[in-house]
Amino acid sequence: MHTIGVLTSGGDAPGMNAAIRAVVRRAAALGVEVIGIARGYAGLVQGDFHRLNSGSVADIIHRGGTVLLTARSAEFRTKAGQAKAIDNLNREGIEGLIVIGGDGSLHGAVELAKMGLSVVGIPATIDNDIAGTDYTIGFDTAVGTAVEAINRIRDTATSHERNFIIEVMGRHSGQIALASGIAGGAEIILIPEYPVDYDLIVERLERGRKRGKLHSIVVVAEGVGSAFEIGREIARRTRLESRVTILGHIQRGGTPTAFDCLLASKLGARAVEVLLAGGSSRMVASVANKILDLDLEPLLKAKKGIDPELYRLAEVLAL
Ligand code: F6P
Repeated sequence: MHTIGVLTSGGDAPGMNAAIRAVVRRAAALGVEVIGIARGYAGLVQGDFHRLNSGSVADIIHRGGTVLLTARSAEFRTKAGQAKAIDNLNREGIEGLIVIGGDGSLHGAVELAKMGLSVVGIPATIDNDIAGTDYTIGFDTAVGTAVEAINRIRDTATSHERNFIIEVMGRHSGQIALASGIAGGAEIILIPEYPVDYDLIVERLERGRKRGKLHSIVVVAEGVGSAFEIGREIARRTRLESRVTILGHIQRGGTPTAFDCLLASKLGARAVEVLLAGGSSRMVASVANKILDLDLEPLLKAKKGIDPELYRLAEVLAL
């Protein structure tokens, strides 16, 4: 292989730039040219290609977002869009592709692999909802941002003796809520993987107050439902004065943590090696602190799920 492409797609995640840098520099060290594709699959369909060299990725390792830009492309979901993408890649002489993104982006990678292209995926999403890897790029940073916010909110919650509902991201996954809720000492953590039990919530919040707790924090993943409705229901049942804070896209931006930069650097470099070794429809992954490459398609069919021990720990520690 002489030329490979790289794109970022779907929701951005802090550390994507570190992954792009690692791809470009590992490829350069192996004498392979890298073409950056702008705006993910949208740029692939439009042929929005840019030659990258080691200098083009200087000074980006610490930046949030993605210098390649990202998008969610409706056209690429059609067979015609995918055929156009393959034509563009062939015309440019791109022999293999590295896709940096989450679930939807990796599904796109599988589609291209089925059309004969060599593709390696790098799992990058703040949601950490990709099976086969312990961590996705961006999760650690997003959890850190959420915990910082929870700690700030706890100060004001205590002063006013209030209950706070804090909504974190995760439309289909409670990973951010569970990790940030435990690390932020939340009394209650609500995630889409488990049913909401208001009786239990009320009992636990009231028990805390009886013990002299001045505040309570409920961390809720966005996939559970409206944080405002949950807040109203808790206020109605407990008569605790409640406020709602939605952290939203704050969790997607900002300087990636050292953990995410390191993970992205390792995954980016390995993705190039796997592609050049002839791998296709593979995903690089971090498992028990080792970088592996795995067959991509079965991973997308599998559900990552919540670690039940971690969920139980959250309940024990919040008592
Ligand atoms: O998949 C990452 C994620 O941040 C989810 O947690 C969230 O539900 C979604 O993206 C938001 O997407 P958008 O950028 O379209 O608002």
